[in-house]
Amino acid sequence: MSVVVAKDIRKSFGPLEVLKGVSLTVEAGEVISLIGRSGSGKSTFLRCLNGLEKIDSGDIEVAGHVMDRKPARLRELRRDVGIVFQSYNLFPHLTAGENIMLAPVQVNGLSKAAARQEAERCLSLVGLGDRFGTYPDMLSGGQQQRVAIARSLAMKPKVLLFDEVTSALDPELTGEVLAVIENLAKQGMTMILVTHEMGFARRVANRTIFMKDGIIHEEGPSAELFSAPRTPELKAFLRSEVG
Ligand SMILES: Nc1ncnc2c1ncn2[C@@H]1O[C@H](COP(=O)(O)OP(=O)(O)OP(=O)(O)O)[C@@H](O)[C@H]1O
Ligand SMILES: [Mg+2]
Repeated sequence: MSVVVAKDIRKSFGPLEVLKGVSLTVEAGEVISLIGRSGSGKSTFLRCLNGLEKIDSGDIEVAGHVMDRKPARLRELRRDVGIVFQSYNLFPHLTAGENIMLAPVQVNGLSKAAARQEAERCLSLVGLGDRFGTYPDMLSGGQQQRVAIARSLAMKPKVLLFDEVTSALDPELTGEVLAVIENLAKQGMTMILVTHEMGFARRVANRTIFMKDGIIHEEGPSAELFSAPRTPELKAFLRSEVG
């Protein structure tokens, strides 16, 4: 079953064409990594997939929802498509658990008791089962990012989009967040990860997409793409990432 079907997506910001016809199909349970230089359109593409950016042309179907301009349809789609950003944006005046309960109560109409139970379950999934009552500023960056992931999980998304979720973290905190994502992959969660962690992408993603100048320049099974890149552009990119 395809969870994401994007066909010939085009998107410009004024005169700048950022996506020049991007097509991608993701099957249930697949983990896709999206790599490429700064400005190649990775974030824009992710944002198009959950309707945060309006596309100029093309077709998107995600988690069974056809992308539509109507706000009600868009809300339905977003409920099934989680997105986690580099900045976690937790409410500082709410505990970790309360941050997670918010959307299930307000958007899905769950009772407080049910939302609480769900929040506790999701905190356990990210290894923070004992932090329900902790306020964000008492948590490390890595822990806050894990709470943000738990907050997305509480909506029971059909696909999760991650946009460089470890970029703002100190190296010693990156591993704990990547471990959570790897665990979700093992549990069969469908995910698209924009990442600069090449080792992680190679190990965890079934497939890797290399974007360059608004198109998919090269793609393939991660094992092949990293060990035997075909295009000179991807070769150069991988060399520069390894440093
Ligand atoms: N809202 C916007 N308005 C105008 N230009 C934008 C907007 N969002 C992105 N862009 C431009 O679109 C291009 C692609 O941006 P995007 O954020 O998708 O790149 P990226 O591949 O995610 O890069 P990075 O690795 O730095 O995050 C860039 O040139 C950026 O400046
Ligand atoms: Mg980006």
